[in-house]
Amino acid sequence: MKILDACCGGKMFWYEKALPFVTFQDIRAGVKEYSGGRKIRIEPNHVGDVTSMDFADGAFDVVIFDPPHMIRAGKTSWLNIKYGKLPEEWESWITKAFAECFRVLRSNGILVFKWNSAQIPFAKVVKLSPYRPILGDKRASTKWTIFVKMEMLIKNNSQE
Ligand SMILES: C[S@@+](CC[C@H](N)C(=O)[O-])C[C@H]1O[C@@H](n2cnc3c(N)ncnc32)[C@H](O)[C@@H]1O
Repeated sequence: MKILDACCGGKMFWYEKALPFVTFQDIRAGVKEYSGGRKIRIEPNHVGDVTSMDFADGAFDVVIFDPPHMIRAGKTSWLNIKYGKLPEEWESWITKAFAECFRVLRSNGILVFKWNSAQIPFAKVVKLSPYRPILGDKRASTKWTIFVKMEMLIKNNSQE
């Protein structure tokens, strides 16, 4: 079993933060301080860019993709420090990142996508995935969604 957490940040949702079969990737590394002296430790075991990864095609059985979800956040705000911010051209960024996550995922592998729709609606983001999701939260503002990399789930124009 090989798992990639493509934007691991502070690994807040991981119970096990140092499993040998998990690659924890983030573009940042180090201890960041935010409000009231609180700290977040960003300790990837692989520093890399989710929009252009140096892993082989099909290298992972499972990919976790929890990208920054904000386009508006002050440079020094705790949300920005903790979760990062999307670039202005967020649509092309998310499109590239989804394509890369599916490239490094093996056929029939599972992609777990997490999104908070406070600033950008989930529907606008999921549209940018090359595959259709199979299940996920439909009501909460933070949504966990499962994709499977199967040919029958590749989008075509008539299904979008
Ligand atoms: C929503 S946070 C992840 C939170 C994390 N899942 C947790 O449980 O703490 C998004 C993370 O994506 C990282 N990130 C931003 N741009 C990236 C890029 N191009 N490649 C990889 N990671 C990136 C940010 O540094 C940030 O830590």
